[in-house]
Amino acid sequence: MTGTRVIGVGHYQPSKVLTNEDLAQMVDTNDEWIQSRVGIRERRIAEDETVADMATLAAEKALAASDLRASDIDLVVVATCSAVDRVPNTACRVADRLGVGSPAGYDINTACSGFSYALATADHAIRCGSATKAIVIGVEKLSDWTDWTDRSTCILFGDAAGAVVITGTEGDEEPGIGPVVWGSVPEMSDVVRIEASHPYIAQEGQTVFRWAITALAPLARKAAEAAGVDMDDIAAFVAHQANLRIIEGIAKKLKAPNAIIASDIVESGNTSAASVPLALSKLIDNGELKTGAPVLLFGFGGGLTYAGQVIRCP
Ligand code: UT7
Repeated sequence: MTGTRVIGVGHYQPSKVLTNEDLAQMVDTNDEWIQSRVGIRERRIAEDETVADMATLAAEKALAASDLRASDIDLVVVATCSAVDRVPNTACRVADRLGVGSPAGYDINTACSGFSYALATADHAIRCGSATKAIVIGVEKLSDWTDWTDRSTCILFGDAAGAVVITGTEGDEEPGIGPVVWGSVPEMSDVVRIEASHPYIAQEGQTVFRWAITALAPLARKAAEAAGVDMDDIAAFVAHQANLRIIEGIAKKLKAPNAIIASDIVESGNTSAASVPLALSKLIDNGELKTGAPVLLFGFGGGLTYAGQVIRCP
């Protein structure tokens, strides 16, 4: 294989909507604070659905959009930090439910940057000849790990899944997934946490905020350069949906004048590893992106980790 490309995208969100007004009945907060500081209006919360349920439902849609069958898939990669069960991994549960025969299946936990990490490893596996067709999923049920009495965190998160199907490109065909730009800041590994001693999401919000708006725009530009795509040609910038002010701050420094700036956070909240494929899938469903359009994906979060790449729309 000379490269890989995305051939199907799909997403799933639970039906239960939790608005800012609902949260104001639960903790000392209000719609004005949440919208002005974070940009969130509402989020979806899973009730009966598990992480594997949501991942499977998103993967089914991506598979249907790709025109492949489950039996064509030989690699399943799931990015998540919120699966409750340690074993089996979510990838193998999803493969079973989809009816994928005997794929390589593994989970990746790099928190909110997870989808771009997972996509990169699937791209690498196919280009190395270790797989031919992969499903890559970002999924989170952070509501299981939220302290619903802590106003500084409970207003932020939502539950969702997003998935893509990728395959190899051959001969002269242009690769549809660009090189990944990835890395981490190990000395800041503890600024976002879900720990055994306190099994709820906790973060030093302002530390993450400052890092995100100062360090990430040059790294996202590097991902576009690595793909050989001019910033003027980027059709959409799909960043991790952590905070609308962060997204707009990075976008301003990016200088991608023709790019749609994904802002799904407004209606979905921060869905961690699901946020990038979820926002991408909605842009495609809404007809906002043409086939072949270059989209800059960029995830960042706990670790602190980051990863991004340019993909061409299916
Ligand atoms: O996705 C994983 C990576 N994480 C991120 O990227 C998160 C990055 N950080 C952020 O997005 C922001 O730091 C937050 C949205 C988490 C917080 O916004 P902030 O502007 O940094 O607020 P803050 O934590 O500095 O709090 C400011 C004030 C405080 O009150 P005082 O001390 O100034 O009186 C808080 O107690 O706002 C108060 N506050 C609230 N007020 C109403 C905190 N949470 C709330 C709330 N409603 N929900």
